[in-house]
Amino acid sequence: MVPKLIIGMEGVLNNKIFKLIGEVADTLGLETYVIGGFVRDIFLNRQSKDIDIVCVGSGIALATAVKHKLGKHARLSVFKNFGTAQVKLNDLEVEFVGARRESYDRNSRKPVVEDGTLKDDQERRDFTINALAMSLNAATFGALLDPFGGVEHINQQLIITPLDPDITFSDDPLRMLRAIRFATQLGFRIDEETFEAIVRNANRMEIVSFERVADEMNKIVASPKPSVGFILLYKSGLLNIVFPEFCQLKGVEVVDGRAHKDNFYHTLQVLDNLAAMSDNLWLRWAAILHDIGKPQTKRYEPAIGWTFRNHNFIGARMVPQIFRRMKLPLNEKMKYVQKIVDLHMRPIVLAEEVVTDSAVRRLLWEAGDDIDDLMTLCEADITSKNEKKVQSYLNNFKLVRQKLLEIEEKDRVRNFQPPVSGEEIMETFNLKPCREVGDIKNMIKEAILDGVIANNYDEARALMMDVAAKMGLVAKDS
Ligand code: CTP
Repeated sequence: MVPKLIIGMEGVLNNKIFKLIGEVADTLGLETYVIGGFVRDIFLNRQSKDIDIVCVGSGIALATAVKHKLGKHARLSVFKNFGTAQVKLNDLEVEFVGARRESYDRNSRKPVVEDGTLKDDQERRDFTINALAMSLNAATFGALLDPFGGVEHINQQLIITPLDPDITFSDDPLRMLRAIRFATQLGFRIDEETFEAIVRNANRMEIVSFERVADEMNKIVASPKPSVGFILLYKSGLLNIVFPEFCQLKGVEVVDGRAHKDNFYHTLQVLDNLAAMSDNLWLRWAAILHDIGKPQTKRYEPAIGWTFRNHNFIGARMVPQIFRRMKLPLNEKMKYVQKIVDLHMRPIVLAEEVVTDSAVRRLLWEAGDDIDDLMTLCEADITSKNEKKVQSYLNNFKLVRQKLLEIEEKDRVRNFQPPVSGEEIMETFNLKPCREVGDIKNMIKEAILDGVIANNYDEARALMMDVAAKMGLVAKDS
């Protein structure tokens, strides 16, 4: 195929860095291009932060010369083993690589990388939309090289590999997940043959590290309509490899003519609802995992029907093992997801029953600053087709939200610490740290949450004296 050469695009390369790289490349006599996501994003009108440069020759030599020209404000990192280098200037990151031709030794699975032409390099990229290159050399500055119809595919909103998809995917199986990620993120469709190849090669995903998988999964989750990605993952067979727990949610069982809802589709609906309300990636993960404990807790009880008792608690317990395997962070982000999964039934129960002050206080205290996020998830969790039911839940949630505000205004329990500290209890009764101190502190907390005493020092201190007397403790100065 003859590469398409479209001149007149130079205006879009308005960042001064491109002219500078072109000039340096000209002095070294290197054919040089900006390639990949950056060029794709020009046609999509998206802001791209990373710039990838490919030259026919040594990418490291070019990067070194560019760094030299930029002076002391630029930083150069060289990755000799990969033949790549990076130049950082303020918040701009530019990656350099020499054009490569890659052939695979099927027996060793090890790629044999050789120097190649630009076309060789373009054809070993993942998708035609990511194989676009624009020249940076002065004589052809801004010329577009599009040998596989990438621009046309952008217009057609199509994800398709430049080579036979079996070859593209066996070069790097992560690309199967990337196809689904781009389709979800950009709202594109995947070419039929490309998708069939994903189905055929899905098992090869097992050799990909979970760090790389997590990156793509997070991009799917952060997309405007994440369910698109999950359904493609399911249909292709990839979901069972990267996230088997989620597959378990699929299906409907019927006993005595009674069916439960399909928790796979329910969860995806919740996720899409939430995505329309919030950009918070970790709240989206909480939506994905909110019912993950359902398959394990499912029972059929003839008198009631299908039950999923404690699924929130079991689900919260599953979060760390899922995060660990999927190489998601094991820090406060995981704890946040765990907490939301654990508490996700509470506002619903409140909305169904008479809302007592003490139930609201308890929820406020347990959810703390995450109370608004929890309420958002609960609103997203209403997926009934019955409009009347939906309205009634939403109205009840409004009341719960109002009550939360009122109680917080009045009692300030959101992040409260009992007004009498452990130190004060130890000091008063001459105690070393022991169980009794914890018990007294806990009783004060419970009494405040239940509304038995007000959230202030005097009432807490009086209760402490009372409880301690019943335990047989004597104050130091009595
Ligand atoms: N690439 C590839 N195969 C991969 C990963 C990347 O062929 N498994 C190529 C593509 O040409 C891609 C470029 O490397 O455009 C840069 O990859 P990356 O930075 O991961 O993604 P982008 O395409 O830039 O997209 P985004 O910024 O949305 O991640």
